[in-house]
Amino acid sequence: MPAKRIKEGKIELFTPPIKKTVRKSDTVFYNPEMEFSRDISVSALTAFLKTQKLTTGCDCLAATGVRGLRYGKECKLPMTLNDLNPSATRLIKKNIKHNKLKNCKVTKKDASLLLRENTFGFIDIDPFGSPANFLDSAARSIWHKGLLAVTATDTAPLSGTYPSKCLRRYGIKSFKSPFYSELGLRILLTYIILTLSRYDKAFTPLLSHATRHYFRIFGKIQHQGKIAPLLKQFGYVMFCKKCGRHSTGKLKLTCKCKNNFIYSGPIYLGPIQDKKFVTSVKKDIAKRKFPKWEQEMKLLKTIEKEIDTPFYYDLHFLAKKKLLKLQKTDKIISKLKKRGFHVSRTHFCPTAIKTNKEY
Ligand SMILES: C[S@@+](CC[C@H](N)C(=O)[O-])C[C@H]1O[C@@H](n2cnc3c(N)ncnc32)[C@H](O)[C@@H]1O
Ligand SMILES: [Zn+2]
Repeated sequence: MPAKRIKEGKIELFTPPIKKTVRKSDTVFYNPEMEFSRDISVSALTAFLKTQKLTTGCDCLAATGVRGLRYGKECKLPMTLNDLNPSATRLIKKNIKHNKLKNCKVTKKDASLLLRENTFGFIDIDPFGSPANFLDSAARSIWHKGLLAVTATDTAPLSGTYPSKCLRRYGIKSFKSPFYSELGLRILLTYIILTLSRYDKAFTPLLSHATRHYFRIFGKIQHQGKIAPLLKQFGYVMFCKKCGRHSTGKLKLTCKCKNNFIYSGPIYLGPIQDKKFVTSVKKDIAKRKFPKWEQEMKLLKTIEKEIDTPFYYDLHFLAKKKLLKLQKTDKIISKLKKRGFHVSRTHFCPTAIKTNKEY
């Protein structure tokens, strides 16, 4: 039974007792660490609502309701909060009442069923593990010009630790690499784009981030004319285990060093951020000054400056493979800039850079 009353964002929340380890079997799930993700989501929805009017939103895996309640209160979007677990829906009702939120309602259904029976302008999918099971229903439900937000915590299969699990869930083979985090996020993004395209909807990424143990992707839904330009940006990513080089684009089977590449694809190689949108999210975070706003701003600033070239180079890995002499990251960046290359740091990894120079 709920034992704690806490504050998050502008709401007060009854939560189950906070434990050091959060397990699936806990009666109602609440993870205080995900406040970071929820803050960014509140600002992302606010930024989106500045460009597109929406009238309905759905937090289809709501648990305590913290996300949906925050969208209702802080973004003023009428929300449906859904969970299959009756203890969760009881707690959500209590939390709605306690916060006097007139624009939030509760349903207790299988999320896929709820999404098949209703349409929404904004859908947030924040599951245990993989979102793959819910995406078909979300693709049917989401409005044109709507916003879809997806979390995945099954980062190990996506990032190459369990390639066959990744193939089974997402239809794409992953592999172990020094750029594992971006590979995982791009495989998830590819799966979202392809699922939406089956329903004649284009999913255009607005903001994507890999943070600790999860991936989070926001995208706007556009008309089917925008699908072909997305698919044009599909291609392969190849990696040579022997010399450490990677390459993207058309499929090549052998590396410069004559060793065979391992590869994945076709996957989406285009931009994963809309920089104007990222700036707008960043400004909203600066305005709201959430308790962790400095860390959130740091992430958004790095993403804002991150160049679009797919797949980062981990400098420590390149040095180990003798493809580069290890120096301070800023020094390497300024040297590459002087030589006319595009280059930036990346939020995916503190010891990595993105550049259009091929090693
Ligand atoms: C990771 S938790 C959600 C966390 C929440 N969004 C937050 O920010 O705190 C996932 C929730 O999905 C619910 N759930 C799992 N499968 C479901 C399904 N098929 N339909 C509806 N709810 C489901 C679980 O009961 C659980 O409360
Ligand atoms: Zn090689």
